[in-house]
Amino acid sequence: MKDFAGRTAVITGGGSGFGREFARIAASLDMNIVLADVQQDALDAVVAELQAAGARVLALKVDVSKGDQVEALAAATDATFGATHLLFNNAGVGSGGLIWETSVRDWEWVLGVNVWGVIHGLRAFVPRMLAAADSDAAYRGHIVNTASMAGLLNAPNMGVYNVSKHAVVSMTETLYQDLTLVEAPIGSSVLCPYFVPTGIGDSHRNAPGDITAEAATPSTKAQQLMSAKAVGSGKVTAADVGTLVFEAIRDDRFYVFSHPHALGNVETRMKDIVGMHNPSDPFAARPDVRSRLRASIADFAAQVAGSASV
Ligand SMILES: NC(=O)c1ccc[n+]([C@@H]2O[C@H](COP(=O)([O-])OP(=O)(O)OC[C@H]3O[C@@H](n4cnc5c(N)ncnc54)[C@H](O)[C@@H]3O)[C@@H](O)[C@H]2O)c1
Repeated sequence: MKDFAGRTAVITGGGSGFGREFARIAASLDMNIVLADVQQDALDAVVAELQAAGARVLALKVDVSKGDQVEALAAATDATFGATHLLFNNAGVGSGGLIWETSVRDWEWVLGVNVWGVIHGLRAFVPRMLAAADSDAAYRGHIVNTASMAGLLNAPNMGVYNVSKHAVVSMTETLYQDLTLVEAPIGSSVLCPYFVPTGIGDSHRNAPGDITAEAATPSTKAQQLMSAKAVGSGKVTAADVGTLVFEAIRDDRFYVFSHPHALGNVETRMKDIVGMHNPSDPFAARPDVRSRLRASIADFAAQVAGSASV
């Protein structure tokens, strides 16, 4: 997709982080912008910023894990701007902990947003984009799904997130094959960021009310602490990632990496698979990460034991 002015971009998770940067770039390219987010105040702030800059914006409070809400988003987009050209299935949340300690509610929440959110986005929008292409030979579209390096690696204590992002990589690679199969003029890309400072480390701000901090286990708490630190200390910015993604859309490139130097870990994983070796440590270059994680889980466990004995 090379022409953006006057076309329409739909962005889920548009109230913060990468989604907000996609919206800023889309506005600078004179696109119509549709923002969806579950957090109303974040959405309002981005709408105010974009409208002050003269952008045409439709914003809807949407929980992407709910199919009827995503369908309503697609219908509202049609009614307001007509065809969708650029779709960002980007909303996502982070959580972790030892895989056997992750609660059923945590699995449901993370898979609901990160996996079902993308499924609903594809089911609601792709048929409409194909119909737009059928009725206009000049139509060009592109779909960007936000996965993660966690969709290509399996670091310890991050099971629920790893599983969700592997699913997004799989869905997007399949989407690419399916769009090619039907010869659609619609490109696709999968964004796999490493640690980039955004609101992801504070994802629980949008967790359903029955997922409480009190229910967290030592491993869950340790993961939240580690992730918040890793994300907060990232040097590549969300704006940098936004620029990379729009370059990929223009150049019709599928894989988008914020930290290509981290791909050595992916190569090692692939070599383990084809060589039938047991899985290597994905943080092999940083053995301190594993030992700090182990110590942090032990610290939180000691705190729990201490408070139980008081
Ligand atoms: N920042 C990183 O280091 C990093 C790394 C890898 C992948 N990612 C992925 O990037 C994507 C964007 O996250 P971000 O880093 O910009 O974090 P962020 O928290 O700044 O933005 C995520 C947005 O999604 C929204 N959201 C959460 N649940 C939602 C729901 N149910 N329905 C609709 N919107 C919802 C949030 O309100 C927020 O505005 C996510 O898919 C995340 O998993 C981030």
